[in-house]
Amino acid sequence: MRRRTVDYRRPVRRWFSSWIWGLLGLISVVGFVLFVVVHHHPHEDRDEQPILDKSELLEQVTHKRLNITEEISSANSYARQLTEQMTLAKAYVIIAKEHNNFRLAWELSQKIRSCQFLLSKAAMREEPITLDEAEPIIKGLSSLIFKALDAHYDIATTMMTMKSHIQALEERANAATVQSTVFGQLAAAALPKNLHCLHVKLVADWLRKKPLQELADEKRNSLRLVDNNLYHFCIFSDNLLAVSVVINSTVCNADHPKQLIFHIVTNGVTYGAMQAWFLSNDFKGSTIEVQNIEDFTWLNAFYSPIAKQLLEMDSRAYYFKGSQDMKIDPKFQNPKHISLLNHLRFYVPEIYPQLEKIVFLDDDVVVQKELTPLFSLDLHGNVNGAVETCLEAFHRYYKYLNFSNPIISSMFDPQACGWAFGLNVFDLIAWRKANVTARYHYWQQQNVDQSIWKLGTLPPGLLAFYGLTEPLDRRWHVLGLGYDLNIDNRLIESAAVIHFNGNMKPWLKLAIAQYKPLWERYVNLTHPYLQDCVTS
Ligand SMILES: *[C@@H]1O[C@H](CO)[C@@H](O)[C@H](O)[C@H]1NC(C)=O
Ligand SMILES: *[C@@H]1O[C@H](CO)[C@@H](O)[C@H](O)[C@H]1NC(C)=O
Ligand SMILES: *[C@@H]1O[C@H](CO)[C@@H](O)[C@H](O)[C@H]1NC(C)=O
Ligand SMILES: *[C@@H]1O[C@H](CO)[C@@H](O)[C@H](O)[C@H]1NC(C)=O
Ligand SMILES: *[C@@H]1O[C@H](CO)[C@@H](O)[C@H](O)[C@H]1NC(C)=O
Repeated sequence: MRRRTVDYRRPVRRWFSSWIWGLLGLISVVGFVLFVVVHHHPHEDRDEQPILDKSELLEQVTHKRLNITEEISSANSYARQLTEQMTLAKAYVIIAKEHNNFRLAWELSQKIRSCQFLLSKAAMREEPITLDEAEPIIKGLSSLIFKALDAHYDIATTMMTMKSHIQALEERANAATVQSTVFGQLAAAALPKNLHCLHVKLVADWLRKKPLQELADEKRNSLRLVDNNLYHFCIFSDNLLAVSVVINSTVCNADHPKQLIFHIVTNGVTYGAMQAWFLSNDFKGSTIEVQNIEDFTWLNAFYSPIAKQLLEMDSRAYYFKGSQDMKIDPKFQNPKHISLLNHLRFYVPEIYPQLEKIVFLDDDVVVQKELTPLFSLDLHGNVNGAVETCLEAFHRYYKYLNFSNPIISSMFDPQACGWAFGLNVFDLIAWRKANVTARYHYWQQQNVDQSIWKLGTLPPGLLAFYGLTEPLDRRWHVLGLGYDLNIDNRLIESAAVIHFNGNMKPWLKLAIAQYKPLWERYVNLTHPYLQDCVTS
């Protein structure tokens, strides 16, 4: 999913700036070479080799006067292939980071760098790139891009949008310098600086103001939190503003907001800021609980395979880092709790042992209608109410899972319809009876080698909730506002919940302009902290 804390965003900027310098370097080298080629070599050729015969001369000239612009646009040159792959890879770097796949982002940017190096080398020596030089890089990039493509359907779709986006920008930019600034802007704009600023101010409040902490203690024991006559929602996120919009939009569209209870779980870094925000802003009298995932001592490597895998991944990443001279911010390479937050959706009955029904909301949704009717829908004994996504052929099980695995092919129908996380009604009684969490654990263990699926929570969700999912009317949950520029307006208007899944989150500058106001209208822009943070 799409967690982003400010702390690991900063290295992104550092990386991009070095990348921009790299590009600028490349550009100046190309410029210099062109200058030399145009102004110098023709004379040299004429002066020093007057006795060559015509064909030899021609060969020599074409050889000497390699036009890198022509080379890059030539349909079958390696330079062209490398440039195209680089465009794709650049977009994937942004997306991989969005999905917390820092390893992949790092690998991609390494390859981009070797690619740039090779291109500048070719420009410098004025010779086309040879197969021997290009092959390892093209192969390496291809396999990384395949890895990224394979990781998640949404990434693939977003990718295509992003790629055409970036290509359009590149095509429009004639001068290479313009290219680099466009890329720079794209990257810099993705940094949610104002979010970081807001978190900092709120954490300071939380630590300084004793009454806030006392109020939080008092609310912790409220009986409303476990009252099954009320309407319960859960949100697992470290993005304060996003959660605020989810809750605000829900209460603003509710007839009786006082009957709504929101259960937030966040990570340790964000906990204080979340508490401070939700204790000091009004959400129409609804009840809001904030918990820290680090307090869930039961969610440990002995109980949870994902916690175990993340722990092992952490130590591997640490080992891996030891052998590199790359300096990474420790928070940047330790997204453990962030990823665990994503998987919390599989532990809902454990987190809320006294509750019977709950609606799960992703942090990138906006609620536009009354949601309480969801609680009286008949799920026909199923555990999970969700909208199906297989209107288009490719959202079927075979798309998400490796059906070459004999267990998968013997137990699941490859044509079964996929569904979406983001708005889910969970019947927690049915969940406990069907041991869905145990099923999830089973599949997570089968996938330690990532041979069944690569990344994300949807594939294990499809397995764990197989045969236990009740399709909801499509208007409950309209997806794609984070990547699809062409969603029917009427569909968006009629939707109870709109979902900004994809890369272009509404809180990023990268957001799709026509959808951004749908999210932004639920932010109190007159709040002094937001004012300070937006302008600073
Ligand atoms: C290189 O090729 C492009 C496109 O064919 C052309 O516009 C440009 O003038 C060429 N540059 C040199 C230095 O020959
Ligand atoms: C669920 O798990 C419990 C304990 O692990 C077991 O006793 C029970 O039979 C399981 N139920 C189902 C339906 O698998
Ligand atoms: C899919 O599963 C098969 C059989 O388990 C395995 O050999 C193959 O490597 C898997 N494919 C991927 C891409 O992991
Ligand atoms: C919630 O949304 C309303 C309506 O759009 C807005 O006026 C208000 O400021 C928002 N509240 C918060 C706490 O963001
Ligand atoms: C927005 O925030 C300000 C400052 O905290 C507050 O006075 C105002 O009531 C809020 N507006 C709404 C509509 O919640």
